[in-house]
Amino acid sequence: MEQMIDRLVTIYGGSGFLGRHLVRALAKRGWRIRVAVRRPELANFLQPLGVVGQIHAVQANVRFPESVMRAAEGADALVNLTGILFQAGRQTFEGVQAAGARAVAEAAAKQGAKLVHGSAIGADAKSQSAYARTKAAGEAAVLALVPQAIITRPSIIFGPEDGFFNRFAAMARVAPALPLIGGGATRFQPVFVGDVAAAMVTALEDKAKPGTTYELGGPEVKTFRELMELMLAEIGRRRLLVPIPFAIARIQAFFLELVPNPLLTRDQVILLERDNVVSAEAEREGRTLPGLGISPTALAAVLPSYLGRFRKAGQFTRAS
Ligand SMILES: NC(=O)c1ccc[n+]([C@@H]2O[C@H](COP(=O)([O-])OP(=O)(O)OC[C@H]3O[C@@H](n4cnc5c(N)ncnc54)[C@H](OP(=O)(O)O)[C@@H]3O)[C@@H](O)[C@H]2O)c1
Repeated sequence: MEQMIDRLVTIYGGSGFLGRHLVRALAKRGWRIRVAVRRPELANFLQPLGVVGQIHAVQANVRFPESVMRAAEGADALVNLTGILFQAGRQTFEGVQAAGARAVAEAAAKQGAKLVHGSAIGADAKSQSAYARTKAAGEAAVLALVPQAIITRPSIIFGPEDGFFNRFAAMARVAPALPLIGGGATRFQPVFVGDVAAAMVTALEDKAKPGTTYELGGPEVKTFRELMELMLAEIGRRRLLVPIPFAIARIQAFFLELVPNPLLTRDQVILLERDNVVSAEAEREGRTLPGLGISPTALAAVLPSYLGRFRKAGQFTRAS
């Protein structure tokens, strides 16, 4: 442990992909961590990331403000990492990403706790995408209730348990071809999960500018096609990359949405119509990883460590 801070942080959505990395980083720095999740029994895997008694899980659903308030009691800081990629039943974008963000901000305001809010590049009140609109509504509610809050907006996040490279690598293992929605020209700036967690730690420990929205991207900007090519090279497989125009993708998504855990939704197709990179304004103003003193990690430094399991048996090196 680097130092004992002995402050209590509640992390809503702390059992997710980014959550586990943030829990590990904060535990190392001596924070006491309350992970607020819908099913605490599923968050027990986090306990070994800290010393005995340092990390514990409590029940909270951001759609139920009383549960959010209860989980915030006595905390010095709150972090909101809740979010969804598609709607299912009562898990609506509005309920989780807008009203849920407001509930966490209300709890922070009531407690006088510091607030770090996880949003996303692309958050936009005017977007046709409900994901992007509700991320923007969540940000607005946060800043209205806690003007000193720090908002982090990552581009697509990569790391061992990510939902992006792992999903397409798994698909490439069985499918002869991979789709390039809109031709695969959308640009991304993939950011390492450890760097996003480090940025949040920096924000929690008063080394970021209060009331600021940081845009977090990695060192490289790549198109969706380039990311697929990189992933395929990493797992040593050749696959056809098939361009699918946005209009066709929307129709396919309509049918894919009929199954649980859909591979693609119409809302995601809308999101893919815009680049997902750090804005020139954020760069200029230093509202970035380097602005927080964090040097972004390259894809090549991390991808081999977790995509290896998708390689063909007997293949040990990266394919050329
Ligand atoms: N991963 C990326 O590439 C990426 C990029 C940009 C922004 N972000 C944002 O970063 C944050 C973390 O992302 P992630 O990749 O770690 O997502 P994740 O793995 O899907 O984790 C999301 C967390 O939110 C929780 N959650 C969902 N609905 C909830 C509710 N009603 N009440 C309480 N908790 C709820 C989930 O817990 P359950 O098990 O209860 O569902 C889970 O712990 C999200 O806000 C996401 O939008 C992620």
